[in-house]
Formats: sequence, structure tokens, C-alpha cells
Amino acid sequence: MCTFVASKIQSRMSKRYTITSALPYTNGPIHIGHLAGVYVPADIYARYLRLTGNDVVFIGGSDEHGVPITIKAKNEGVSPQDVVDKYHAIIKKSFEDFGISFDNYSRTSAKIHHETASEFFKTLYDKGEFIEETTEQLYDEKANQFLADRFVTGTCPKCGNEEAYGDQCEKCGTSLNATDLINPKSALTGNVPTLKQTKHWFLPLDKHEAFLKEWILEGHKKDWKPNVYGQVKSWIDDGLRPRAVTRDLDWGIPVPVEGGEGKVLYVWFDAPIGYISSTKEWAEREGKDWEPYWKDEDTKLVHFIGKDNIVFHCIIFPSMLKSEGSYILPDNVPANEFLNLEGNKLSTSKNWAVWLPEYLTEFPGQQDVLRYVLTANAPETKDNDFTWKDFQARNNNELVAIFGNFINRVVVLTNKYYEGVVPSASEFSAVDSATLAAVKAYPDVISSSIERYRFREAQQELMNLARLGNKYLADEEPWKVVKVDEARTQTIMYVALQIANALATLSEPFLPFSSEKLKHMLNTKTGNNDLNWNDVAQKEVLLASGHQIGKAELLFTKIEDATIQAQLDKLEASKKANEAANKAAEPQKDTITFDDFTKLDIRVGTIIEAEKMPKAKKLLVLKVDTGIDTRTIVSGIAESFTPEEVVGKKVTVLVNLAPRKLRGVESEGMILMTESAEGKLVFVNPDDANVPNGLQIS
Ligand code: 2FM
Ligand code: ZN
Repeated sequence: MCTFVASKIQSRMSKRYTITSALPYTNGPIHIGHLAGVYVPADIYARYLRLTGNDVVFIGGSDEHGVPITIKAKNEGVSPQDVVDKYHAIIKKSFEDFGISFDNYSRTSAKIHHETASEFFKTLYDKGEFIEETTEQLYDEKANQFLADRFVTGTCPKCGNEEAYGDQCEKCGTSLNATDLINPKSALTGNVPTLKQTKHWFLPLDKHEAFLKEWILEGHKKDWKPNVYGQVKSWIDDGLRPRAVTRDLDWGIPVPVEGGEGKVLYVWFDAPIGYISSTKEWAEREGKDWEPYWKDEDTKLVHFIGKDNIVFHCIIFPSMLKSEGSYILPDNVPANEFLNLEGNKLSTSKNWAVWLPEYLTEFPGQQDVLRYVLTANAPETKDNDFTWKDFQARNNNELVAIFGNFINRVVVLTNKYYEGVVPSASEFSAVDSATLAAVKAYPDVISSSIERYRFREAQQELMNLARLGNKYLADEEPWKVVKVDEARTQTIMYVALQIANALATLSEPFLPFSSEKLKHMLNTKTGNNDLNWNDVAQKEVLLASGHQIGKAELLFTKIEDATIQAQLDKLEASKKANEAANKAAEPQKDTITFDDFTKLDIRVGTIIEAEKMPKAKKLLVLKVDTGIDTRTIVSGIAESFTPEEVVGKKVTVLVNLAPRKLRGVESEGMILMTESAEGKLVFVNPDDANVPNGLQIS
């Protein structure tokens, strides 16, 4: 083995790692933006570190407090507890089914978390780390409620975004106090808030400025991602201010000190402590001590988050940990940028997303395809776009055509030539030796990318190993050689099988389901042939001669155009629904008098005959019984209804509209219609669930 490999592996001694991933709000399911930004990279990292023999705890959990939950509960007419119970279960299950390998997935409504967060607050309080102050805060007189966080929107004083929240502008990432907002508006009632006095506890971030400068600006200039470092530097350079860490709300962790009655901890105070309580929960269950994972200087703490969470993880939480005094600080915070979908920003409210539970149902057994595509397109350095066409192309042209094809050929030929028994190699050619040496270099190459949080690059290297295998088989052509040289064929197949087993191990962090399937196919789950990461570089033999492998199964399957079209159609329906919803918000027309209204003669009628207008795509000629007469009405509904569908329908008719000729047929009135969310015309029937309030009837 070359000395380069030996030295690199030695320098990578086993270490203790605490890996956290942002706790998702339990106000909706997980979508691809969450996965690409946080959970897939965190999972690759955790799996890789376990495979390289480190002591790893990978922490997750649900963020169940805060205004987003309260708003969702209010919109759905249920209690916040109902909301968090529902989504915690959905989120937890979908993470499990998707193979996110949390060592513990907790929730911030858990007793252990309430205790841990309360205790943390009390420690800081007792140490005099807070400023206790009565200040004027925004108040909604109509809702009888103080407005903080997402209860209030307004213009960001920094970037001018008109939809900034009371605690943060999601456009420029700046953390705000609600009173900083220009033209604030209550998200509860739309009212302009007044100011009212209330007491809160503030974390004096300004006091921590010097420490933050030294720790991040000087200490992490080189190893933190430029997007993270740049944002943090700009906030620190702007100057930090005290930040309220309590709220006047009734949903959250009660403020555990005198004078805190009726107040709760700010969600961004309690949520990151959730990482600690989830670690405690895990340690208790596993019979371990949680403290080294948070307090031992040798532990590497890494927070995986999306870019909107940077300020909380790089400035506020570290200031809390530092104030407490006994905790370590994060070694890195590899935040990702955002993922867009088909060119548009992901949006829960606009249903512009690929939801994980839906993906799992619609693409059963294809978790790795989504993991692969999200990593290949990961928004590591800039915002990126997910498109269904790219999803299909990466599956069909990369996973199926490169990785799957190589494995399939190796396993099929081994079964065909040797009844599945790994043959012995005789003399290696120069190409064989070079290929085997190249295989052994991959663990280090991939490690180096993963350890610098470059997961796209790491996965590309994994695929290069599969490409190497494909090229080796294509160049050596065992299917031709077998006719003339038995010994050479055995050597070729031996080399190819070594590559296959290297792939089984090195793919595990990226494609865990396929790795498992491949290990099953190669029958390496027991015995000496199941390799860990370093074995691939260090062991002479990666799959022993004489070992019996199993039968070929397809690792990946082609995704057809129709499958992709169905997803695109779903998104198109969301787009239409949004357009319809926007239409509903069109401003009201000029006021009319009652006299104007009484001029309209609107009657209930029934369509008794209908036929298509010749040579007109949109028009139907209808005979309508209006109760006063039976008359002809030409209506532009032919793209939404067949004549048969409308006969017998009750309709609303404007009967005194001046007659007019359409294609030579005189139309004596108008049928009132509106448009469904999908853009289909529908008869006016406000009971129809598809017709949103405010749609114009025309
Ligand atoms: O942005 C969010 O979805 C937050 N719930 C993330 C919290 S991360 C941590 F601090 F818990
Ligand atoms: Zn802004």
C-alpha cells in the first residue's frame, strides 16, 4: 500500500462528534428544500464518520414552540398541541423511511427538554447574564396580543423587503427586533400595532462581540464556508444589540423566574437547547453519559442548518453557550443556501414543493434517487434548482447507466461463468494493477471532500469509481475473452468484483439503501468481506476468491417520461390554484348604487339543450329555460364542458343583457360562471369547495 494512504488514515484518528441538524418546525411535512439544505448532507456526514470508526451522535428533533405553530393551529381551528402531535409523527416517520440515521429524534415538548431549557435559562439568570428591562413592544389592540416574531410583518430596515418578520428578515437574513420593522402590520388582524410596555429578559449580544470576533472572525476565517463566514462578519461589523429571549405568549416553555408569569422562552432560545436535551434522551436510553458530547473540548460539534438559521447558530446560541460557561462551541456550521423548484422559490403556502411523505408513496423504494439528485445539485455555495427532468436524467443516465449497469454486469457474469463464486486472479496486467491502486485511493479522495463539507464533490468521486469499473469492463471485455482465455477472464472478473465491493462500502453514506442491497447481492453481510471505509484502502483483498455471491437484482430502475409528467402536472395544478387564489385577491371594483344593482335581472334557469357551435373551439349554443321563456344563449364554456355534461344543469342567468350576435347566432343573456383552482370554468355555486371566496363572477 502506498505511504500516502497510510499517513492520511493515521492522521484521521477516531474522534467524538456531536452532529446536529436543524429541528424542523412541526407546522407541516418535510420537503426537498429541508432535505437538500440540512438532512441529506448531515446524514452523509454522520454515516461517513460512523463508517470511519468515530464515536458519533447524530441529533434531530421537532421544534414545537414558536409562532409558526400557533398560527397553523389558529388557521386550522385546532390547538397547538394537536398541530405538533400531528406533524411530529409525520415528520419522524418520513425521516425514518427516508433513511436519515438520527441516533435520536426528540421533540421540544418533551419533559426532558422543558427541564433542560428552564435550567439553562435559570443558570444564565443566576449568573446575571441577562438584562431585565421593561420596554415598549408592538401590541395588537384587536387581538389583545403582543406582536413578536411571525405575528408581525413589515419592511426590513436593512434591505427593504416588505415581508420581513418581527425577529428576522428571511431575504437578507438579518435578525431583527419587532420594533425595528418599518410600517409593521399584525399578521393576526392586519391592524397597525400600537406600543405597550412589557417586561422581558435580554441577552446582551453586544457584550459578546469581542468574543465572537475572536472566535469566528479570527478563528474560523479559513475553515467555515464563505457564505456563513461572510454573513456573520457583516452582522458583527454592523454591531450587535441586546436581544429579547422571552415572549408574551401562552405557547412555549414558561419563563422559570420571578416575574416571568404568563411569559414563555423565545423559541430560538429553547430550540437549540433541544439539541442538548435530545442528546440527554439518547444517552439515557443507551446508558451513556451525555456530557462529553457537549462539554469535552475534544468533541467536534457540527451544526447542519439552512442559511436562514445562520444568525441563531453562529451568534445567539454560541453566546448562550459561552454565557453558561461549561459548554463547547461549534467547530463548524456548514449552512447551505436554498433549493428552488423548477425555477421558483419553494413555498409551503403556495404548495410549491416536493413533499417527502408524497415522494415516499409515489416513488416506493427509490429513496436513494432523491438523495442522489439532491446531493448532486446541493445548494452548497449558491441557491440551486431542482427540476423533475434533471431528476429523471440523473437517475437514468447516471445511477442506472453507470452505477447500476456496472454492478449488474459484474453480478450477472459472475453467476453465469462461475455460479456466483468469486474466481481467483492469476497474473495482473499493468491495467489491472493500476485499476486496483486507483480503487484504493478513493476512500481518501472521498473523505477529503466530505471532511470539507463538499458533498457534491464527494458523490462525484464515488460515481467516478463506478465509471472506473464500467470502463474497466468495457476495455477488458470479459464476455469476449471468455471464449479464448479462461485464466484471463477469471482475473478480469476478480478485479471487477473488488471494485464492486469497494462501491458497496463507499456508497453507504450517499446511497444507504442501494449499498445495503448491493451488500446483500454480494453476500457480504456476514463473514470477512464486509468492509469498513478504511479497509477499502488498506486491505489487499476486498472480496475473497471462493466467496459465494448472490443473484443479480436491479439496483436502480429507469424512470419513464409519464412518471415525470405526472409530477409536472401536479406542480402545474399548484400554479393554477395560486393564480386563482391571487385572482381572488383582486381589488374590488368601483362602488355601484343599489339602483345600479336592481337594473340587473338575474334568474335561476335550467339548460335544456346544448350543442357545439360549428368551427368555434370555445362556444356552446344552449337552450335555457329561464322561467320566463326558453331562449338561446351562446356561452364560452366548450373547453370546460361537453354538451352532454351541461344538459339538465341549474344555472344563474343574467336575462336582461342586450342581445348580441355570436357567429351569426343571437345570444339572449349570459350564464354566470367562475373558474376553479385548476383553471376550469364552473357554474356559480358557492357551495363548491373548489371555488375560493372573492372570485369574481363574470
Ligand atoms: O427554521 C426552522 O425550521 C427552525 N425550526 C430551526 C430550528 S434549529 C434549532 F435551533 F433547533
Ligand atoms: Zn432584509
